[in-house]
Amino acid sequence: MKNIAVFASGRGSNFKHIYQNIQQGKIPAIIKCLITDNHKAGALDFARENAIPTFTISPQEFNSSHKFGQAIMEVLSRFSIDWIVLAGYLKKIPDNVVAVYSNRILNIHPALLPAFGGKGMYGSRVHQAVFASGAKISGVTVHLVNTEYDAGPIVTQRAMEIDDCRTPEEIAAKVLKVEHILYSEAILKVLTKKFEVRGNRVEFKNE
Ligand code: GRF
Repeated sequence: MKNIAVFASGRGSNFKHIYQNIQQGKIPAIIKCLITDNHKAGALDFARENAIPTFTISPQEFNSSHKFGQAIMEVLSRFSIDWIVLAGYLKKIPDNVVAVYSNRILNIHPALLPAFGGKGMYGSRVHQAVFASGAKISGVTVHLVNTEYDAGPIVTQRAMEIDDCRTPEEIAAKVLKVEHILYSEAILKVLTKKFEVRGNRVEFKNE
């Protein structure tokens, strides 16, 4: 069993799906805590309803990213966290946390990286950019987190046609359904299979 901390800033639908898959025994893990930067996050309500300890830690409370990271790590070590799962978390993970949890932080991005990613590319902005570009395909990317936004080694991706979508919101809805499936699959994979990171490539053994 691996101990997971979920980080979420918003409604938390990915968090909910991951939790449900764990409860159904599909992923050998326990969500030990939820960390958010937003005391209004919907994810907080779900965590409280399910007796998952919650922590609101916002970077504005600290005078450096390092201290913000230390506050996060205090919680992570209290729960002996093995893996961090970012599920709609909008703040940059401090470098000191990335260093300690090197290749043990996952993020989900609602497009096919390396396109449509980077600083400021989150939530509806991603889907607006995809829509405006005229791309006929979008998708989901799950990647390991490094110190740059959306640039860490890719664990898995799934593409889908968006030809039938007439608005960015329609793309978002179509992509979200796939996120809910792919994120749990990716978590299961990194927790149960051996992998190596070479450069920016994730290579799973025996594949
Ligand atoms: C998802 O689209 C995810 O890919 C992105 O933020 C959104 C979070 O949605 N990183 P939710 O809070 O999990 O519903």
